[in-house]
Amino acid sequence: MKIISTIEELRDQLSGQLRTAFVPTMGNLHEGHLSLMRLARKHGDPVVASIFVNRLQFGPNEDFDKYPRTFHADVEKLEKEGVYVLFAPTEKDMYPEPQEYRVQPPAGLGNALEGEFRPGFFTGVTTVVLKLFSCVQPRVAVFGKKDYQQLMIIRNMAKQFALPTEIVAAETWRAEDGLALSSRNMYLSPTERAEAPALYQTLSWVAEEMRAGHDDVFVLERTAMERLRARGWQPDYVSIRKQNDLQPPSTGDLAQHTPLVVLAAAKLGTTRLIDNLEI
Ligand code: PAF
Repeated sequence: MKIISTIEELRDQLSGQLRTAFVPTMGNLHEGHLSLMRLARKHGDPVVASIFVNRLQFGPNEDFDKYPRTFHADVEKLEKEGVYVLFAPTEKDMYPEPQEYRVQPPAGLGNALEGEFRPGFFTGVTTVVLKLFSCVQPRVAVFGKKDYQQLMIIRNMAKQFALPTEIVAAETWRAEDGLALSSRNMYLSPTERAEAPALYQTLSWVAEEMRAGHDDVFVLERTAMERLRARGWQPDYVSIRKQNDLQPPSTGDLAQHTPLVVLAAAKLGTTRLIDNLEI
């Protein structure tokens, strides 16, 4: 695997490649990320991964400096997955001058759910993803469904800017007890780790209720949040949305069985976890 840090060197290395499959990451790689690499391999060749902890997507109260950086372990994992190039720019390589141009997702999508609790987050994500796409010029890029809203926003960005990159979605990788893999799981104490699958269980309960014909979305969302609170969680939201645009379903949507997804974010102790389930 070639480890490259500058945009110029990356362009040289990838020039003439028409089938590049790209997986952007912020490092601290776990099995979920590696499943994205494997999916990328099915969709293109060569596979290019990036590791870049993007300051633009961190809020003032979110700990950019404390974000886990595990570069050597990450490199070993990527080598084993047959990744051809790892693009690992420094902040100076990526942002040699202040990034004054930003990609602004539409308010309805970018300021809802995660966007409401993490103002500016999606602008930071879309800006770096567009820039990474411009550096790598991939034919395909893989994103996990774990970050459902991120996937949706990037998909819309690619469509609206007519980017020549197909966005491929990867299923969420779960531990045996259902907990979605996330870099943040490492912050959980043993007691919290034992409790953490309750988030997925709550989403599964909502999905089962909906499938069984219970379609009072408001009551389901409220009950799910109460259940989490009763177990010691601090939920930010449990929200049932339409899969295609993440807007709340109308009565007509419910009657027509429009595909839905239930999304949640909740804090367990000081760790904020997110998860979702398609219904
Ligand atoms: O999902 C992530 O790890 C990040 O948001 C991404 C897409 C790599 C952009 O920094």
